[in-house]
Amino acid sequence: MDTEKVTKVYSVYSGFYDLLFGKIFHDSRVAAINLLGLRSGDRVLEVGVGTGLSLPLYPRNCTVIGIDLTGPMLVKGAKKIQRLGLGHIHLQQMDATHMAFGDSLFDAVLAAYVMSTVPDPRQVLAEMSRVCRPGGRIVLLNHFSNGNRLISRVEKTISPLCTWIGFRSDLCLKSLLDETCLDVEQNLKVNPFNYWHIVQCVNRKPAHGAAH
Ligand SMILES: C[S@@+](CC[C@H](N)C(=O)[O-])C[C@H]1O[C@@H](n2cnc3c(N)ncnc32)[C@H](O)[C@@H]1O
Repeated sequence: MDTEKVTKVYSVYSGFYDLLFGKIFHDSRVAAINLLGLRSGDRVLEVGVGTGLSLPLYPRNCTVIGIDLTGPMLVKGAKKIQRLGLGHIHLQQMDATHMAFGDSLFDAVLAAYVMSTVPDPRQVLAEMSRVCRPGGRIVLLNHFSNGNRLISRVEKTISPLCTWIGFRSDLCLKSLLDETCLDVEQNLKVNPFNYWHIVQCVNRKPAHGAAH
């Protein structure tokens, strides 16, 4: 999937995204935000914020920036911010592969249901690590391919089909984290169907620079 295709697919989704993916993934979004371990005054980045389903869940004593590639998804998010008076949250249209933020700007970074939709997940994770401060939290909420050989084979087979509906099914956590400066603190399976994982990482990059 290239970025043009991602934008096209999610522009179509934007009209009914909340209806399809709102309630069913609500509890896992709550759990993922809890695992960011936010403290008063923290600066948070949410990558691939979409229609902003997670935005009402952030504490008001933090500053939150949400980025996304797809304009129509962000329009929905902006409406939520206005309707709910979420003045501590700001949205920007941006490609997570090349973020326009300086190094180490954020205390915590979340990507919820995003890593399987981006064309280059390793580059996005490298960017998340770059913009997150040393010792900061990075949380990934995503499906990762199962160690089970049979399931992995099925996931690999159906992955080209899945890209037509906006995600890939065969992303491997181990290869995603390979050669990063991220330490996994917790890896929890979450509903629906325990098919999804919340991976809580600490950014161990050196204090003076980026991960690579
Ligand atoms: C499945 S939706 C997840 C939305 C939201 N995080 C949620 O929990 O419902 C994936 C989102 O990632 C965005 N996305 C995909 N590739 C991206 C990229 N390279 N940079 C920024 N956003 C991207 C899509 O536009 C879409 O809004």
